[in-house]
Amino acid sequence: MTEIVHVGLEGRAYDIHIGAGLLDRAGDLIGPLLHRPRVAIVTDETVAELHLDMLCEGLDRSGIARVAMALPAGEATKSWPHFERVVEWLLEQKIERNDVVIALGGGVIGDLVGFAAAVLRRGVRFVQVPTSLLAQVDSSVGGKTGINAPQGKNLIGAFHQPSLVLADTAVLDTLTERDYLAGYGEVVKYGLLGDYDYFQWLEEYASCAAAGDMDARNHIVKRAVEMKAEIVMRDETEQGDRALLNLGHTFCHALEAATHYDGSRLLHGEGVAIGCALAFDLSARLGLCPQEDPTRVRAHLRDMKMKAELVNIYGELPDVDGLIGLMAQDKKVQDGKLRFILARGIGEAFITSDVPPDAVRAVLADALAARG
Ligand code: GLY
Repeated sequence: MTEIVHVGLEGRAYDIHIGAGLLDRAGDLIGPLLHRPRVAIVTDETVAELHLDMLCEGLDRSGIARVAMALPAGEATKSWPHFERVVEWLLEQKIERNDVVIALGGGVIGDLVGFAAAVLRRGVRFVQVPTSLLAQVDSSVGGKTGINAPQGKNLIGAFHQPSLVLADTAVLDTLTERDYLAGYGEVVKYGLLGDYDYFQWLEEYASCAAAGDMDARNHIVKRAVEMKAEIVMRDETEQGDRALLNLGHTFCHALEAATHYDGSRLLHGEGVAIGCALAFDLSARLGLCPQEDPTRVRAHLRDMKMKAELVNIYGELPDVDGLIGLMAQDKKVQDGKLRFILARGIGEAFITSDVPPDAVRAVLADALAARG
């Protein structure tokens, strides 16, 4: 069964379809957007091998012609040289203002292709076909697009909403367990930030979804996407509430920088999961949430066999001052003050710049001390 979540942004509204087997139906679903039966697909080499044929067959069935380009897989692709290559290739393929570009892949491809679509001929429409759990529940929805700069991640980009998102939950079967669970770090974030019942449901059923139960998997993706859509409709360009989606991310970005963005040590979603646990430590230390909450958050992460604390990151980490220094470089610094997403309980996150630095230091000192 396919679920549909509508993102009702005025003039930029679109649907997110969630279900198994959507690649096969891509022609039916994308066809109505097209002025002529031709699209350009941008993907990466790993995803191309696994899923490009299926997408092409889905388009063929509706008589939609396509050209396709595959970039190297990995974060390094989210950069000016590959961006330039994609934009020039789309121009060579004579993609016109009324055409549609398809981004088939995880967060790197979605962000890069979305940004290319935003600037090509001053903006063409694009369809997100996310193939990782992280992209299905987070990066393919909401219109943040962009690439990394030498100065930091995601520093160059634009808000450009997709015209359609096809989250085919069957493709998640091809993810490694580690990649699936890293994406799950973003899933658990939604329960923690705004829906206690969802978190409770995850405690009970998320392991079934990880083991391949499609109904459970569809529910996981649908509820996360619904929450993201609600937040994006309230605050598309992150003037306020959208920052709630950054729960765990201030800690996460410092840990990613500390591990030199080396995915063998820490994937983004793993950093989000650890960051969420640290945000609950900080909230409990400040007396904002019950003392049991951080323990409950970690218990669930451990049940899912996920990284839950700094002890789980192998290799050297900076000391407290080093980590604080990395946090201070975060995009969320405003007027020199760090903005944190803290919680009054599970499902009750809020945004604040009013966090005593000593409390942050104490949380990090405890977390580092546990590494021995
Ligand atoms: N990934 C956070 C956001 O879309 O705002």
